[in-house]
Amino acid sequence: MKVGVTKEASERERRVALVPDSVRSLTDREGVEVLIESGAGDAAGFPDSAYSDAGATVTSHDDAAGADVLLAVSRPSGEEIGGMKSGQVLIAHLDPWTSTETNNALAGAGVTAFAMEAIPRTTRAQAMDSLSSQAAAAGYAATLLAARESGRFWGMLTTAAGTIRPAKVLVLGAGVAGLQAIATAKRLGAIVTGFDIRRAAWEQIASLGGRPLELDFIPDAEGEGGYARPLTDEENEQVREAIGENAAGQDVVITTAAIPGRPAPLLITAKAVEGMAPGSVIVDLAAETGGNCEVTEPGETVVVNGVEVIGPLDLPAELPGHASQLYSKNLENLLDLMVGEDGSLEIDFGDDILDAACITRDGEIRGERTAR
Ligand SMILES: NC(=O)c1ccc[n+]([C@@H]2O[C@H](COP(=O)([O-])OP(=O)(O)OC[C@H]3O[C@@H](n4cnc5c(N)ncnc54)[C@H](O)[C@@H]3O)[C@@H](O)[C@H]2O)c1
Repeated sequence: MKVGVTKEASERERRVALVPDSVRSLTDREGVEVLIESGAGDAAGFPDSAYSDAGATVTSHDDAAGADVLLAVSRPSGEEIGGMKSGQVLIAHLDPWTSTETNNALAGAGVTAFAMEAIPRTTRAQAMDSLSSQAAAAGYAATLLAARESGRFWGMLTTAAGTIRPAKVLVLGAGVAGLQAIATAKRLGAIVTGFDIRRAAWEQIASLGGRPLELDFIPDAEGEGGYARPLTDEENEQVREAIGENAAGQDVVITTAAIPGRPAPLLITAKAVEGMAPGSVIVDLAAETGGNCEVTEPGETVVVNGVEVIGPLDLPAELPGHASQLYSKNLENLLDLMVGEDGSLEIDFGDDILDAACITRDGEIRGERTAR
């Protein structure tokens, strides 16, 4: 079996799907060959020589793109999909629930496509869960971005020129990204408050040294599969009001709230932004799905009343080395389910992980949610 990795299609993407350590593990297996497009790992800090030393063949784009199994970080372009062979396997983040065009193109080209977003979030699949590994990178990168932009020390500082009080940071949404943001802000010395509508998250916030904002007038909103359920309009209104009041006393707000398959919930209104002190910073991790803050512009920084509101896109790509390392391990674990003893490709669609993750096969779109 040949496994291929090409340079990512998007200019902004600095991650690479396989790092040399994973290449070594794969090529140690009988019958597995790895083809890497020259320069594919450069932006993540992995030169061609590291791949050759690990046992890969460093080659042209077309050669790598023609492998039996093509691995990528993000969705390939239409042109790339057009160049794929029928029966070829693709594994990547494919935005399967919002990118109808990509789904149709993959099905049309006869590609057997696995979307990393569609891997079930079960205990057995945890080691393949790139939503978690990349959310952790996003939460960390968002906090460093907020720290840099805030223009202040985050920890307390006692100096001959006076004492600096610690920064106050509010993190909204305490899933994987939010908890990582809380942990990172604490390590920098800030006073951290965290909020989530799932009560189970309150204990997790406290375990990281954060103070949970316990809005207990809202019933626990934990829904199917441990995810949050959408709040009612009235509940949303109450939450926004309480958050607006709290945000007014914070130096930094990092927002990460999401409901799977829906636009991001609005948590910080324009009025709440105006209520914050000039010089405060908001980093909105939900910018890509509509934003948790009313004034967020995806991919832009806007300043309202002296408050800087940043809507970053592709935050995991800000940590290309480690984000690639974790993603590569997720892929290695997923590939383990597909490689036979002799190194040939053996996909058992009776396996619940492979069945759920496969979104196109034999010209058909698979899975109710993807089809919808
Ligand atoms: N393999 C696994 O078992 C596994 C892996 C990852 C996550 N999970 C679970 O999934 C859940 C969420 O994980 P995620 O980080 O992917 O979630 P996510 O990225 O979908 O959402 C981020 C957070 O936003 C919160 N949120 C939604 N609406 C909100 C609102 N109006 N106000 C404040 N917060 C709001 C959610 O509760 C969630 O914690 C957690 O329970 C986590 O333990 C399980």
